[in-house]
Amino acid sequence: MSNVEIARAMTNHHAEMVNALEGRIDLLVSSTENWQEGRNAVVSYLLNDVLPHAEAEESTIYSAALQFVRLTALVRSMMWEHTIIRELTQALQESIQRDHALMLAMQVSKLFWVHAEKENRYVIADLAPEPDIDLHAILGAMHDALAG
Ligand SMILES: [Fe+2]
Ligand SMILES: [Fe+2]
Repeated sequence: MSNVEIARAMTNHHAEMVNALEGRIDLLVSSTENWQEGRNAVVSYLLNDVLPHAEAEESTIYSAALQFVRLTALVRSMMWEHTIIRELTQALQESIQRDHALMLAMQVSKLFWVHAEKENRYVIADLAPEPDIDLHAILGAMHDALAG
């Protein structure tokens, strides 16, 4: 598959994750007495899908992007955002008040949306035209990192 096709697949996967996270947050927003279940569903999506994805990126696509001087500051800032997503996940997991949980869930979902969109627009789109970048191999390495 061409870099353009893989870039599209990566972007679509981001949209799926953003939608999945927002769908769980909608359930949390509409839950009342049993809001802890909604919080747990958001936390488990972050722990099982979003954060492993973030970790897999750091050793694959981000490390490929770091070869280009023009992308180094951006990639470092993206890694810092991974740290903030991790911290918000932990705070959400520990939240014991519904309003606090809602606020944290909104923050993490907005941050993740912006973060994923930055990857689409400024990392993936920037790497795709590079002749020495093989996005198919990078995606395969990400899947290996997630499986291992
Ligand atoms: Fe990321
Ligand atoms: Fe990503």
